[in-house]
Amino acid sequence: MKRAKNIAIIVAAGKGERMQSNLPKQFLMLNNHPILWHTLKPFLECSDIHEIILAVPKLYIEDCQNTIIQPLLNHYPFTNHAQKIRCISGGDYRQESVYLGLQAIEKPASVVVIHDGVRPFVTPKQISLLIHQTQKKKAVILGIAPRDTIKKVDNNGYITATIDRNLMQMAQTPQAFSYELIRTAHDLGRQNKIEATDDAMLVERSGQKVFVAPGHPLNIKITTPEDLILSKGIIEAWPPEENTN
Ligand code: CTP
Ligand code: MG
Repeated sequence: MKRAKNIAIIVAAGKGERMQSNLPKQFLMLNNHPILWHTLKPFLECSDIHEIILAVPKLYIEDCQNTIIQPLLNHYPFTNHAQKIRCISGGDYRQESVYLGLQAIEKPASVVVIHDGVRPFVTPKQISLLIHQTQKKKAVILGIAPRDTIKKVDNNGYITATIDRNLMQMAQTPQAFSYELIRTAHDLGRQNKIEATDDAMLVERSGQKVFVAPGHPLNIKITTPEDLILSKGIIEAWPPEENTN
């Protein structure tokens, strides 16, 4: 019998509208390499990941293969080189891109790690830790506590409540799940027409518990031009010291 693999699904098929750039933001350059190049690297370096499924816009598949994946594989002598990167065409929504990634998985699969293609600041160690936690808990995401006071407002912008921020977490990716659990959650989500902005939400709606493990403040999602400015600062100090992981 084949050993069940841990699979990463990296979704990079968005248009990046909030970035207001002609080129989708995952392909913008950061320190001489496309953002997606930086995102893929720690997954290739992580010995607990056995295969990567990468969703990109259909138009960019060939380009991505030639200018990101091949140079990355050629350039770095990764120890775990049995792993492959398989490029697929993404969907119209993030949820759809993940769903297509799940469809592309060849069974048996153990843990599925889902990650945004525009979050380049994770380490192989964080990914391994997440996988190990998921082997016990089945559904684990990274999150960080908000640093600002959180207000709830009405449609006119007036505060209606101050929320206890000790009970709040800002969800990041990677988010990891046992294969069966995330397949079921996505299938149910589609059946019930749930529109989710992350995968944990679909698992929550399917009635399963999701654990939030400590994420990292540097693990930003590059969403707007301001995030691009921040990312240029972060890359200067990257990778972080081991103990800041
Ligand atoms: N994503 C995807 N397929 C889509 C939409 C989004 O794979 N149809 C990916 C993006 O490429 C990104 C991640 O999901 O890596 C997080 O989404 P977001 O930051 O919202 O990216 P975009 O949808 O590209 O940006 P925007 O919402 O500003 O258009
Ligand atoms: Mg989006």
